[in-house]
Amino acid sequence: MRVVRTSAEASLRADRWRAAGLSTGFVPTMGALHEGHSKLLRVARGECDRVSASIFVNPTQFAAGEDLAKYPRTEEKDLEICARAGVDLVFIAEASDIYPAGFQTWVTVEALTRPLCGRSRPGHFRGVATVVAALLSIVRPHRAYFGLKDYQQVKVIERMAGDLHFGTEIRAVGTVREPDGLALSSRNAYLDPAARKVVSRIHRALSAARDAVIRGETRVSEIEGILARELRPGSDLEMEYADVLSAATLEEFSDGIARRSPDGILLAIAARVGGTRLIDNMVVPPEFRE
Ligand code: PAJ
Repeated sequence: MRVVRTSAEASLRADRWRAAGLSTGFVPTMGALHEGHSKLLRVARGECDRVSASIFVNPTQFAAGEDLAKYPRTEEKDLEICARAGVDLVFIAEASDIYPAGFQTWVTVEALTRPLCGRSRPGHFRGVATVVAALLSIVRPHRAYFGLKDYQQVKVIERMAGDLHFGTEIRAVGTVREPDGLALSSRNAYLDPAARKVVSRIHRALSAARDAVIRGETRVSEIEGILARELRPGSDLEMEYADVLSAATLEEFSDGIARRSPDGILLAIAARVGGTRLIDNMVVPPEFRE
């Protein structure tokens, strides 16, 4: 496994693979790798001749007052995880390289970034779309891998890569969870034992709402009611959103009825426990609905 620290070297290595006719997969990350990231790496490993990963805590997707400064940084362990997953190339990026002096070019995806996290984290998806566009331009992979844990992020990146003709296929990979259902996240490291217990309500809420949808509940207000009831917001858990949207477009169902939509029904939660903000979601696919 080769580790490079400049975009020029990352491009050079990736260009050589392409010139040799090899298929290439790319997994962008912010480090603090866990089993969720490993799954993306393993899926890429299974589908591509060569796999690269990037590690870059992207400052432009954090708003002032968010956890940029305290975001966990575990480079040595990250490199071990990449090596174990069979990664060929790790690009550890520097902000001054990704954002050259005088930088002033941004990628903005419109409607898909308005609901959910777009509402509570203004500018977040502009930072994500811009850095992913930059990374895809550097690495030029055939396929890039993203986790469905960040469902809105996947939709935004798919749109951006298609709209700007990157020619990279965006692959979405299922969420890896703890035994009690908590989605793995680098931010879980912030949770103390009491908070860790509270956050298990997020998965319980999603499961209860999903079961209701499968049983035939279509009223959005009812489904959102189940999400909120199971979350039990209070002094130990602050609910930011608990929404039911079209999984295809992230739009609300106009008449308050969650109808069949081609990609199913998205149940999405953002909650704060202690100082930690966590998100999770489930999609009820159309085949589960009558
Ligand atoms: P990061 O939070 O490090 O996540 C990197 C990738 O791992 C994302 O595609 C994310 O969806 C995926 N992932 C995280 N937890 C997961 C889990 N429990 N199961 C499956 N996949 C999981 O997302 C980012 O970084 C950044 O926004 C990035 C795309 C790198 C741009 O800066």
